[in-house]
Amino acid sequence: MSGFHYAEGELCAEGVPLSRVAREFGTPAYVYSRAAIEANFRAFDAALAPLPRLVCYAMKANPNLAVLSVLARLGCGFDIVSGGELARVLAAGGDPGKVVFSGVGKRADEMAAALRAGIRCFNVESEPELDRLAAVAAAAGARAPVSFRVNPDVDPRTHPYISTGLKENKFGVDFAAAPALYRRAASLPSIRVVGIDMHIGSQITELAPYREALVKLLALVDALAADGIRLEHVDVGGGLGIRYRDESPVPLPAYAAMLRELARDRPQTLVFEPGRRLVGDAGVLLARVEYLKRGEGRNFAIVDAAMNDLLRPALYDAWHPVDAVRPRESPVDTWQIVGPVCESADFLARDRDLALAPGDLLAIGAAGAYAMAMSSNYNARPRACEVLVDGERAHLVRRRERVEDLFAGESIAP
Ligand code: LLP
Repeated sequence: MSGFHYAEGELCAEGVPLSRVAREFGTPAYVYSRAAIEANFRAFDAALAPLPRLVCYAMKANPNLAVLSVLARLGCGFDIVSGGELARVLAAGGDPGKVVFSGVGKRADEMAAALRAGIRCFNVESEPELDRLAAVAAAAGARAPVSFRVNPDVDPRTHPYISTGLKENKFGVDFAAAPALYRRAASLPSIRVVGIDMHIGSQITELAPYREALVKLLALVDALAADGIRLEHVDVGGGLGIRYRDESPVPLPAYAAMLRELARDRPQTLVFEPGRRLVGDAGVLLARVEYLKRGEGRNFAIVDAAMNDLLRPALYDAWHPVDAVRPRESPVDTWQIVGPVCESADFLARDRDLALAPGDLLAIGAAGAYAMAMSSNYNARPRACEVLVDGERAHLVRRRERVEDLFAGESIAP
């Protein structure tokens, strides 16, 4: 876990002991390391040098304004999937000229807002979407910059819920249908064709699917050029995995070498949409043990965080590391780490060997991506606070929700 280490027997985020975060802000709390986010971005960007490139952080992974601002200040762009995400980028000081807009279901009002903001590109995923965008742009007297998300039909060999580049997925336009779509788009006065893109899945730990997909994509770029359609950028999407347990992530130098080899001597800028790789290991979910419940064959550690705070274990059977903030000497037991939500799927971790006592703090690791972002208020649980640690300082970057917040938008019908 970059940004997190033990000092004097206690887990710290940079220079801040996690017990201090718990004391100041309470639990459950998401804690992020600014240095880790910055190091991840710099490593990603530097590995790709000197390729002409634009890194657009897939902000769905973690859309907190403070996280966006840290990345925006490093020159990072953003991959968005909704008008809400666009508003967040603008609120965080991001450059709309470095925004690409992905997603299969863009609404007309979202398109109009993105056109007004002056985004770099719409990643269009179907012909009806192209028609709608052309109409919205025409009504606004604008020309919409367009890239088609092409489905290369490769198997990224990841969890089926996060695999997107296969024919049977809802994402992207069919490879075979793409040339005709490009010709149509090029003929529309309110559309400007600028690129092509793909995104084959998430938490990918092999290079081969990327290579296979990119070879196909670049062949299409060449075929389009022969047809007089010259693209300014090739967006290779995101999806690079991280280590949660024992995975071997694709090393950035190998990824970059593959790109340099395949994209050599091409005029196009390469666009990247990493999410997890930039923030996944830069956060932990800090939780406190409420009760220890010993049973026949199973011991439960009931903590104050739950599936509404971190859904990944329940939804994908995902494995996150769990560490005691202050490891004890006492004997170790095997624990099911569960929350207070009334669902058997409400587990954060299974079969973990830990020495625990009630009141102990636990850090659930690799929780910087798709963690707070996928939280909910299920069981009328206010969402956790978020804290960004920067050296010796801990900044509250989202206050804990209050119970009143939960029903502030509701009313009782007469
Ligand atoms: N670009 C597009 C068009 C995407 O749909 C995604 C993720 C990304 C980029 C970024 O992918 P990344 O680099 O983070 O793998 N909730 C799941 C992950 C869902 C990913 C959705 N799309 C999880 O917790 O594993």
